[in-house]
Amino acid sequence: MLQRPRRLRVNPAMRAMVQETQLQASNFIAPLFAVEGEGIKSEISSMPGYYRYSLDLLREEVLELESLGVKSLLLFVKVEDDLKDNEGEEALNPDGLMQQAIRMIKETVPNLVLMTDVALDPYSCYGHDGIVENGEIINDESVGFLADMAISHAQAGADIVAPSDMMDGRIGAIRIALDTAGFENVGIMAYSAKYASCFYGPFRDALDSAPVDMDNIPRDKKTYQMNPANAKEALREVQLDLAEGADIVMVKPAMAYLDIIRQTKDISSVPVSAYHVSGEYAMIKAAAEKGWLNEEEAMVECLTAIKRAGADLIATYFVKDIIKYLQAQG
Ligand code: PBG
Repeated sequence: MLQRPRRLRVNPAMRAMVQETQLQASNFIAPLFAVEGEGIKSEISSMPGYYRYSLDLLREEVLELESLGVKSLLLFVKVEDDLKDNEGEEALNPDGLMQQAIRMIKETVPNLVLMTDVALDPYSCYGHDGIVENGEIINDESVGFLADMAISHAQAGADIVAPSDMMDGRIGAIRIALDTAGFENVGIMAYSAKYASCFYGPFRDALDSAPVDMDNIPRDKKTYQMNPANAKEALREVQLDLAEGADIVMVKPAMAYLDIIRQTKDISSVPVSAYHVSGEYAMIKAAAEKGWLNEEEAMVECLTAIKRAGADLIATYFVKDIIKYLQAQG
């Protein structure tokens, strides 16, 4: 036989030598959930081992993440029910939880890249990413609001805003708004190909942000998030966001969309990120709890596959575990 591929797999040193995909700490984006209050570290029931923090304890958490070698954070807030409305007015409060959290994090770990979630759902009494009118999530008014929200985050100190809403035209509108307000160095990570996925379930538990069960309010996000059956449409979304000035484009979720990550990487002139979402984390945790999967092996395999598919950056709830694993490997 002339070709014996097994020669390059004979032992660990040989396998390490020819390994094509390497994970490193700087690849990972750490999602953070902030809540009101003090001394709070509450576990999200559908995301075992992942927590919501009040700002005092979030401070310790971001210091730990920095010491592990994490470079970027992606901040979400859980908004109190009585502060929610249809327009998400609280999102623009300069002393709102998001703005306070941004200031605290930039004071505590000024050298990390702080990304912030721009979308209405945590603030919306209907749990939608835009403003609801007559049973529809209206686009252009929502975009105007999201641009104001991005400015508010930039004023508080965000390095990169991350619109996760999937309204049309929001990247361009946010870019113009940021530039006009003097924030030309604040970047945009666009959730470009975000699918209407069941795998966001645990995240909606974490933030209590699921679409409400109410007459005339859509219970799903299918009029703005993408149909999982479509690939070409994802590339259209990516191209639009690139043309509108996105600095990073994202595909979300990750594992069920590796083909989309690869195709995005092939056409993208900017870094590609992938979001290994809450349900993907929960599946591995649940199977491991039952003894059906080895948690560490499943985590490493999934994250390696996401990077191999073309993701330069990966947002994952396994961020601490994977970095500790990589450190232990030396
Ligand atoms: C909403 C948003 C969602 C996630 C990030 N931003 C959920 C949704 O679209 O309903 C999901 C993240 C995850 O599941 O880990 N703007």
